[in-house]
Amino acid sequence: MNNEEHMAEEIYQITGGYPLEGTVRAAGAKNAITKLLVASLLSDKKCHFFNVPNIQDVEVTVELCEELGSEIVWDKEERTLEIQTKELKTSYIPQRFSGANRIPILMIGSLLGRTDEAIIVPTAGGCKIGPRPIDFHIESLKKLGASIEYRKMRKEGAYFAEARQGLKGTVIDLPFPSVGATENTILAAARAKGTTLIKNAAIEPEIVDLILFLQKLGVVIFVDVDRTIRIEGAKEFHPVEHTVLTDRIEAASLGMAAIATKGRVFVEGAQHQHMITFLNTLRKLGGGFDIKQKGIEFFYQGPLKGGIHVETDVHPGFLTDWQQPFVVLLTQAQGVSIIHETIYENRFGYAETLNRMGAEIELFTHCLGGKCCRFASQNFTHSAIIKGATPLVGQKIDVPDLRAGFAYVMAALIAEGSSEIHGLHYLDRGYENLAYKLTSLGADMSRIPLKEEEGQEALTLAEVT
Ligand code: EPZ
Repeated sequence: MNNEEHMAEEIYQITGGYPLEGTVRAAGAKNAITKLLVASLLSDKKCHFFNVPNIQDVEVTVELCEELGSEIVWDKEERTLEIQTKELKTSYIPQRFSGANRIPILMIGSLLGRTDEAIIVPTAGGCKIGPRPIDFHIESLKKLGASIEYRKMRKEGAYFAEARQGLKGTVIDLPFPSVGATENTILAAARAKGTTLIKNAAIEPEIVDLILFLQKLGVVIFVDVDRTIRIEGAKEFHPVEHTVLTDRIEAASLGMAAIATKGRVFVEGAQHQHMITFLNTLRKLGGGFDIKQKGIEFFYQGPLKGGIHVETDVHPGFLTDWQQPFVVLLTQAQGVSIIHETIYENRFGYAETLNRMGAEIELFTHCLGGKCCRFASQNFTHSAIIKGATPLVGQKIDVPDLRAGFAYVMAALIAEGSSEIHGLHYLDRGYENLAYKLTSLGADMSRIPLKEEEGQEALTLAEVT
């Protein structure tokens, strides 16, 4: 069990200055397994997953599936999970799942072909990193034949979706290669009559993992060379065994933490083919890495050289979730670097705290760098100039979202003195036993109850593992 969960009101206390050294295993990808569990609801057969991460977002998704009628056996020690949904108990997703994460909205795609009842889904959640609309999801599902309405229910609203005449394959051209909209459309198309083409689809590795799973399930599904995904709807499904791909966000983040602390860490399970752009960018910065048979070793090999320009983008570009720890790394690199965030309009909220720690990060509403993005002239603060190298000092920090949370942990690991990090529920959503992993690499870090003055003592490493 992930003993770092369900312990409300705790903080990390981190004293910086210790190089991370050793071996650590990157977990299965949060953004794959949560979708795979939803996809398993397409079928009444048993699906057996391996390399399942023990994180809060999986916990919530498991609860959600159980609510709908899934039988689940999750062996957290073995990292395996079996799920079977012989019958749907309900298609109503209670309001308590509203805002939990981005998963409930994908239930529409997965359940539309399985029930004649209305599917009722509360408003979408996830990290507050911009407005995160779901208009592309809704439009695509409507094109497949669903009727979807948003209705206000008491205080909160919910989406009501149904497809009484069934879903029918069609051509969908996404305005932007949205990960969630691509997934929702694939899920709906998997049970639709005929063939669906999704043009301008997202092709992130986690989506390819979903495609592999669906092929095992019995769906005929292709990825064409031009970002088109072609799905031939199926009605007969098979039991599936599937190993979740490694979390490329966690793997890269641990690697960056190793380099930032001037250490050397072998990240077991890190998959080269999913990290090409990240590794190229790291090499330009002067960060060391060695690709081995079972993972990637990251190491400090001398002062980092700034003066680089990075633009976040859809896959195979530089992933927006690598951006935050990469900025911390840039604060330690000699020279001026630029980051242009083109996926989310509001993903630099965390920079102010880094500046409080001693960083020199200036934010801009212009598109800085090579190209203009969707956010040009829209007054969104989506570019940053980072001047390095600047020493950081420990601070009391509030985590605003999951990936910013890791960036703060990393900043605290290199800062002079101690930092207190609050808001661990964000980190628990996506990082498995983070304090354990980092302490086992030599970090001076503990997870302690917030109200220390009331006599509660810090949990030792043994207690959090
Ligand atoms: C997924 O979010 C991930 N979340 C994100 O990871 C990741 O940053 C993102 O993809 C990009 O790779 C999960 O997989 C659970 P999008 P998603 O739809 O699917 C706009 C993390 O920390 N858009 O590709 O929500 C949207 O506003 C998280 O693990 C619309 O305008 O991302 C955004 O600007 C954070 N209308 C852009 O597209 C829509 O209908 C990309 O969003 C849908 C999206």
